[in-house]
Amino acid sequence: MTKEKNNRIVSGMRPTGKLHLGHYHGVLDNWLKLQKDHDCYFFVADWHALTTEYEKPADMSENTIEMVIDWLSVGIDPDKSVIFLQSGVKEHAELYVLLSMITPIGWLERNPTYKEQLRELKTRDIHTYGFLGYPVLQTADIVIYRAGAVPVGQDQAPHVELSREIVRRFNHLYGQTFPEPQTLLTEAPKVLGTDGRKMSKSYDNSIYISDEPDVIEKKIRTMVTDTARQKKTDPGNPEVCPVYITFHKLYSNEETLNWVQNGCTKAEFGCIECKNSVIPKVLERLAPVREKRAELEKDRSLVMDIIKRDTDKARAVAVETMEVVREKLGLGN
Ligand code: TRP
Ligand code: SF4
Repeated sequence: MTKEKNNRIVSGMRPTGKLHLGHYHGVLDNWLKLQKDHDCYFFVADWHALTTEYEKPADMSENTIEMVIDWLSVGIDPDKSVIFLQSGVKEHAELYVLLSMITPIGWLERNPTYKEQLRELKTRDIHTYGFLGYPVLQTADIVIYRAGAVPVGQDQAPHVELSREIVRRFNHLYGQTFPEPQTLLTEAPKVLGTDGRKMSKSYDNSIYISDEPDVIEKKIRTMVTDTARQKKTDPGNPEVCPVYITFHKLYSNEETLNWVQNGCTKAEFGCIECKNSVIPKVLERLAPVREKRAELEKDRSLVMDIIKRDTDKARAVAVETMEVVREKLGLGN
């Protein structure tokens, strides 16, 4: 497919280290689709990670490498997409400062994600200026590449809305400069962890892209199922079963899905048999990813070179944007 005019996409992920299947099917599968016909800029949002982890910063460079290895292993292609490090392009910080001048505090305080996190994140103190300004930094990340759209899940949609408002204000004050980034809402499948809650590193219920096959097998074997199904003779309901919702729906074909629905509701087989029908499919799908991953783990300098080369590519675009921005604000270049 030919690349149209503004089909540039920017998306970032905070470096949490090794990624799990929630990241894979919720975000990376979508990046892989976009990569086919968009000009994609994918970056490691290490500064954003610090907004919540500032008290005890993780080993950011280790987490960055592990995460980018996962990106590359699933097929994010450095010949098609730009894969870079946010903190490697200092221009993001400069634009962030300038955008902060025109962003009313009220917009940030009203941001639903902000309010929710203040209520819910009890393990860390996020009553900071940096955390309040999270969406302003995110706006800088996006508009510095003059992106046309940002792929996000529902939870991040208010941030992109805020970005559009900041852009409108900037363009209104200083003349048309940035395109308004559109929200590309991603349909993320429900990925549940071994305990039946949303798959999340902090719940210790995750299956990682880098897990060994025997570990994956064990995790699925011990995963909770429809809790109403205590015995093999109890009928179950796949629609409330985490194994069905996550694994069968993502990895099984139509025929198997019908077999499960039928057999589970009629108690024709037990959960072990049901799990055994999907485990090989999961392992099969992850096999090439594992192989690629093992290769890259052996050659980390190659991964670092890719990040370095692409960070330079990204910076070239950012530098150009900043020249225009400084001019509009009466700053010297
Ligand atoms: N806030 C995003 C997240 O937590 C990460 C992010 C930072 C981002 N900057 C971005 C996503 C720019 C898209 C575009 O997942
Ligand atoms: Fe879930 Fe399968 Fe057990 Fe039904 S038989 S409860 S779908 S694991």
